[in-house]
This record gives sequence, C-alpha cells and structure tokens, in this order.
Amino acid sequence: PAKKLWGGRFSGATDPLMERFNESIHFDRRMHLADIRGSQTYAGALAAKGIITEDERKSLHDGLEKVLGEWEAGTFELRQGDEDIHTANERRLSELIGSVAGKLHTGRSRNDQVATDMRYWLREECERLDKFLTELLRVVVDRSEAEVDVLMPGYTHLQRAQPIRWSHLLLSHGWSLEADLQRLRSLVGRFNLLPLGSGALAGNPFQVDRQAMAKELGFAGVMPNSLYGVSDRDFVAEFLFWASLTMVHISRLAEDLITYSSEEFGFVQLADAYSTGSSLMPQKKNPDSLELLRGKSGRVFGSMSGFLMSYKGLPSTYNKDLQEDKEPMFDAADTLEGSLQITASVLATLTIRPERMRGALSTNMLATDLAEYLVRKGVPFRETHHIAGAAVKLSEDRGGVPLSDLSLSDLQGLHSSFASDVTSVFDYERSVENRSSEGGTSKATVLAQCKAMRAGLKQ
Ligand code: ARG
Repeated sequence: PAKKLWGGRFSGATDPLMERFNESIHFDRRMHLADIRGSQTYAGALAAKGIITEDERKSLHDGLEKVLGEWEAGTFELRQGDEDIHTANERRLSELIGSVAGKLHTGRSRNDQVATDMRYWLREECERLDKFLTELLRVVVDRSEAEVDVLMPGYTHLQRAQPIRWSHLLLSHGWSLEADLQRLRSLVGRFNLLPLGSGALAGNPFQVDRQAMAKELGFAGVMPNSLYGVSDRDFVAEFLFWASLTMVHISRLAEDLITYSSEEFGFVQLADAYSTGSSLMPQKKNPDSLELLRGKSGRVFGSMSGFLMSYKGLPSTYNKDLQEDKEPMFDAADTLEGSLQITASVLATLTIRPERMRGALSTNMLATDLAEYLVRKGVPFRETHHIAGAAVKLSEDRGGVPLSDLSLSDLQGLHSSFASDVTSVFDYERSVENRSSEGGTSKATVLAQCKAMRAGLKQ
C-alpha cells in the first residue's frame, strides 16, 4: 500500500472501507488549479526566507506546473492512497522531481492549504456566476425594453388586481436578481482573504510573508488569526445562503411563468427547446425547464441547511467534519450555473401573447381608478373607495356586467360628483400611465428602470 503522508506514528494499516470513507479526492480534485497555485506561491515564500534554495523553488514550481498539465490534459492518474487533492498533488510531485518535493509542506498544513484552496476556487466560481447572472439580467432588460407596450393584469392573491405593464412584472423579478448580483459581489469581498500561513492552527514558524502570498494569489489581505484562518467556513455558509436566495427568486419567476403558460392563462408560450412532451398524452407540452428550476431551489436550500448542521457545534479548530463543506458548495455552484443559464435561455426564447394578456383585463380592475377619479374631484379617498365598491356591487347585481357599462345616472346615484368625463377612467392605458411616480408601471418609469438596471450590470 502507498505510504501515507501522516503514516509515521502508525503501525497498523487503514481498513479499506475506512479509506473510502475518508477520501475526498473524488470531489476535491476540482480544486487542483487552486491547490497548485497555492503550492507554487508557498514555495516562493519559503525561498524568500531562505528555507529552501532558489533551485529547489524552481524545481518545485516547474514540477507543480507539470502536475497541473496532467490534470488539464486528463492524464493525472489517481493512485490508491490519494486521499485528497493535496496528498495526490504532493505524491505526484515527488514522483516527478524526487525528494525535494518533501520540502514543500514545510510549516504548512493541509488545514491552511484546504481553506486557501476553497477560497481561491470559490472566488473564481463567483466570477463565473457573476457573468451568468449578468447575462440573465441583460435578457430581462432587453425584453422589458422591447415589450414595454404590452399590458397585462397584475395580481395579488392570484386575483386580478390592477393593469400593469408586462415589462414591469419582468423587471420586478429582475430587481430581485439584481440584488442577488450585488450580494454576490459583496460576499466575495468578505471572503477573499488568505488563510495560508496559519499552519495547522497556531501559525507559521518560518516568518513567511503572508501579505506577499496574498497579493500573488489575488487575495485582498490575510486572515487575521490562524485559528480562525483554518476553521472559518462562514464563507461557505454565506455562499450557500446566496445560492438559496437566488434560487428562491428563480423559482418564483418560474412559478409565474408556469402559471402564465397554462392554457387557462395563455399569456406566454415556452420555446420547444425548453419544454418536453408526454409519453402518453400527445397534446402535452410541459414546462419542464421551469419546473426543474423550481424544484432545484429545494436542493440548494438543502445544501445550505445540511452544511450548517455539520458546521454547528464544532470545537476549535480544524475537525474532519469540515470535509463535508465541499460537496454542498460544489453542488450549489453547479446547480446555480445551470439554473442561471437555463433561466436566461427560457426567458430569451419565450413567446408572449399580448392579446391574451390584454384579453384578461377587465374594467373591474379599474375600480381603484374610479375611486381616484372622485379623489381628484375632492372626495376623501376612504369615501371614494366605498363608492367604487358599491359600483362594483351594482355591476355584479346586474349579472356581472362590466363596470364600464354602468350609466352616468347609475354612477350619479352613488355620488353626485360623477360627471360625463368619467368614461375616460375606463381606459387601461390611461390607468397604467397614471402610475408615473418613480417605480410605477407607466412607460417612462418602466424605461427608467431598464436604464438603471443596465447601468448596475457593469461592475
Ligand atoms: N480533505 C481534507 C478536507 O477537506 C483536507 C484537510 C485535512 N486535514 C486534516 N488535518 N486531516 O478538509
């Protein structure tokens, strides 16, 4: 069996079952780039302090570059005993360059190494996610601008409430996701600190220049306490919360679109590329993409709660429980990458049916406007609300005729301030255009949102 990095004090062998249980290489191999860059930088820090020679540093550096090449070419061969990415890389390095490989780990521990790898990896991942989320928001803004003239019913309690612009609804989802983008950027700022140089827990005894290492590896600074450096995984929790909340937003958007794509609503039609059929019912076209987005939000939330359960109650400092931090992080990252791209594609290829949206508007939805008409004539709003309510009741008592079918004398029977200009109230366009205070659904205020959102997309 392969010699273990930590085997010196052991005489008995590891149970093969335990070996499988203990290994993390099948998932932490994803951090091979971070692991190698971290090691190269660490070798440089050792050389700068004269702990290794310049020749040794170069040999370590070049050997590590070869190991990286193998990972990238897919030719890295795992051996029995490659417990994790750190041991695998070091094992391979020693095969390539011989015993000088044994100097690399001087003063370093897998504890500060793994914490460094994870932060490095997640930083790069957050850059990819930033790009996908930005692309999704571009689709939202483009559509919102192009379709700004389309009116539809706005809902509360899933009951028809007031006319709105379709773009206004789309942008409402966009703003939630835009806040997620800002949160993503700010959380990277919080976790982008270097743990390397913390040692196993107590710090590094060779005076390595941690600030210089941080700079070289793209970190904004160093973790200020070595115990904290090796054991803090708050950044994983924060990332998983970010991922969960973003998925909740995607899920709510998906839910709206699923509802609107049903024949009962018929407001939108999904492209064939993002729908599937039924093996039994030939007529079916199901919004599977949206349902998966909604479903996967549960999976990401599960990763967050699962991780927090593993993290809670750990004694200081490193404990192997912490190895359970990676799979939820990777799974959430993968799920978000897929979900953001699918959401963008579904939205970009969606067909809207403006005539169905408009057809779902009814003059009842202008009851608020009717009340506001009276407000402009000087009647207190509380009173006008009551009067408009009575008008709705009257139209219902007449067998559900549209509110706009009530005659002027019907209305004047409810309040003397109604005049012939009341007919202007029953105009959806006017209703929407009236809501022109900042953030409202008028055309100008919707287009202003598009402009503001676009500006925020540039970092
Ligand atoms: N594979 C381990 C992890 O993911 C690396 C750190 C191991 N450290 C240790 N002291 N056993 O956490």
